[in-house]
Amino acid sequence: MEIIITNTPEEVGRVAADLIAGVVRSRADAVLGVATGSSPLATYRRLAELSAPGTADRVDFSAVSVFALDEYVGLPDGHPESYAAVVQREIVNPLGIDPANAHVPDGSAADVDAAAAEYDLAIAHAGGIELQLLGIGRNGHVGFNEPSSSLTSRTRVKTLAPQTRADNARFFDSPDQVPVHCITQGLGTIGDARRLLLVAQGVDKADAIAHVIEGPLSSRWPGSILQLHPHATVVIDEAAASGL
Ligand code: GLP
Repeated sequence: MEIIITNTPEEVGRVAADLIAGVVRSRADAVLGVATGSSPLATYRRLAELSAPGTADRVDFSAVSVFALDEYVGLPDGHPESYAAVVQREIVNPLGIDPANAHVPDGSAADVDAAAAEYDLAIAHAGGIELQLLGIGRNGHVGFNEPSSSLTSRTRVKTLAPQTRADNARFFDSPDQVPVHCITQGLGTIGDARRLLLVAQGVDKADAIAHVIEGPLSSRWPGSILQLHPHATVVIDEAAASGL
């Protein structure tokens, strides 16, 4: 595992964006896995700068495909905090990705179990994910794979941990509006990506980062699957690295 510790939270975004830009420069139709949450926002902002028209050595995302990690179950179509809306707002629009090439699990499907299985197939049909960007929850979750998730799990419906619902309540008008269920890529699905890139900032993530990097491989800390991966990179600021 490659670990890069930066001086500031903004630098995490710059370093991660440069790694992603390198993937897209070497393959214009790269398939990227994208994460929601606040951790990758600085990365997306930097990628938007690198892809802006007129930029020297511009990165062109027009042929790139993206697959989101997860989605809430049961939010109405178009809900601004659905991950479909977040991916559109934070990634697809600013980077100039073709909306037809942006994929998010269908959390409003009549049969969410079938939608989850179809999502795994769609990733496979796209040729697999070249680079999967990840954030991490305070309890060590990646995607919405909460502690005790099977290390070989595939995309499926899961129940959110109370701590995750509390952490994500800030995006909703009231805590009871946070959905209880989600569809998430499984830990096995995530591990199939040819490259993993985890970003984290702030002291709130220090405990999870220490367990992911230095702790034993354990479903108690789902992010520890990075230890199994042949090409995993962690980019964190000094505060997130303070437990190492
Ligand atoms: C969310 C997402 C994860 C994300 C994590 C951390 O619930 N499902 O993909 O990595 O929690 O979020 P944040 O980056 O806002 O701390």
